[in-house]
Amino acid sequence: YIIGIDVGTSSLKGILVTKQGNVVATRQQEYGLETPQPGFSEQHPAVWTDALVSVLKQLLTDVPEAAQKTEGISFSGQMHSLVLLNDEGEILRNAILWNDVRTTPQCEEITRTLGDELIDITKNKALEGFTLPKLLWVKDNEPDIWQDVARFLLPKDYVGFFLTGNQQMEYSDAAGTLLLNTGEKEWSQKILQAFDIPEKICPPLVESSDCIGYIKTGLATDIGFDTPVAVYSGGADNACAALAAGITSSGLALASIGTSGVFLSYEDDPKGSYGGHLHYFNHADKDRYYSMGVTLAAGHSLSWFKQTFASTKSYDELLGNISSVPIGSDNLLFTPYIAGERTPYTDSHIRGSFVGISVGHTLDHFARAVIEGITFSLKDSQELMKQYAGKTFDAIVSVGGGAKNQDWLQIQADVFNTKIVTLASEQGPALGAAMIAAVGANWFDSMTDCSREFVAYDKEYLPDDNHVSAYDTCYRHYRKVYPATKNIFN
Ligand code: XUL
Repeated sequence: YIIGIDVGTSSLKGILVTKQGNVVATRQQEYGLETPQPGFSEQHPAVWTDALVSVLKQLLTDVPEAAQKTEGISFSGQMHSLVLLNDEGEILRNAILWNDVRTTPQCEEITRTLGDELIDITKNKALEGFTLPKLLWVKDNEPDIWQDVARFLLPKDYVGFFLTGNQQMEYSDAAGTLLLNTGEKEWSQKILQAFDIPEKICPPLVESSDCIGYIKTGLATDIGFDTPVAVYSGGADNACAALAAGITSSGLALASIGTSGVFLSYEDDPKGSYGGHLHYFNHADKDRYYSMGVTLAAGHSLSWFKQTFASTKSYDELLGNISSVPIGSDNLLFTPYIAGERTPYTDSHIRGSFVGISVGHTLDHFARAVIEGITFSLKDSQELMKQYAGKTFDAIVSVGGGAKNQDWLQIQADVFNTKIVTLASEQGPALGAAMIAAVGANWFDSMTDCSREFVAYDKEYLPDDNHVSAYDTCYRHYRKVYPATKNIFN
């Protein structure tokens, strides 16, 4: 067996997987966020390690023979979140999470200081979520803590350190710090010097499938392992979600609709970039990359809509009649900017809209308009991939809420004008983590080989030409809403 762990924002999930890629046990433990001030989002790293120990114990209870037969473990983790340690390896403050937005002044400082060089080196823009702005915030606001900082880590690397006693970071997560030269795969001296950050606080860099040690003996015994368990470094959650959807070659993209939405494409050019219009990160597959755009409120827009206007209905009831509403919802448009938008606008002030409301519109029209608006917003990322790199896809793998409804899957095929496929079994980033461990343990020669064994597709949805041209018109209308609304409340 191998174990894949996803250190998420609201829970830690663990899966126990066989050599054939079968998931034989799954356990999950939830935890909360701390919000000491509006816009702040923090977690104490002990919530992750406590959850880890209890999830591992539960997996061994579910499958007792795993105590002798677990060959390796690896992790997927929430990206960007800052963990600070002193030289004893002790936690100096709560982790500042990826969804914390206190760092706008630090982002402005980074952009002012580095200009275009930031994108040349990191391939990404400075956003509040990323790690460098958080480091600068601590440096500016908590000098007593800053002077004790001996090391910074990201959540899954902290969990790896907890298990093995060794500190390191692999490239897919390091890419989200804004300190990595992503093409050269080294910490950027230019950026470290520009902000007076000592290089020694940056952990040694390793590959995702590198073995970083074994679970410490006392801890392994406490959890219940009878034989040594190798620990592999792991990957960023988006990289692991991509692995779990088989995104290990060109021609495949991922459309993931959770609370937020992600449109992600495989890339193999170390020199590639979208000029900061999309994220461009190192993949958890060695020397590969991926690009992605983010819709901040994807599933969140639908849950907000249901909660506000149809709280007594289930999702199935709410979406049950959308196929009887025509494409474009009889000229009703929704933009899902209820919490601001990341791609393509990087605008935290914009808010959502319904445009074109008329007396004939029913709840079904509104529900369909919400689904269509979320899908248009992901299409914005697909369009950037086309515009900057001429990309087209053989298929898009749909996961998350968007893959749970047949009508929405067909809408995706028609809006993206691309074949949509679903997964036979959706395990999310934890499966990507298990794949990293499987490659690390030499079960497979490459991630592509592992993917052939571990990832199976289920249904296909093909674009319908008439629907595609109708949606082209709707999408052109949708694109007019942002410029027309962005200054109303500013
Ligand atoms: C990616 C991002 C989120 C986190 C969630 O840039 O901020 O998707 O990775 O864990």
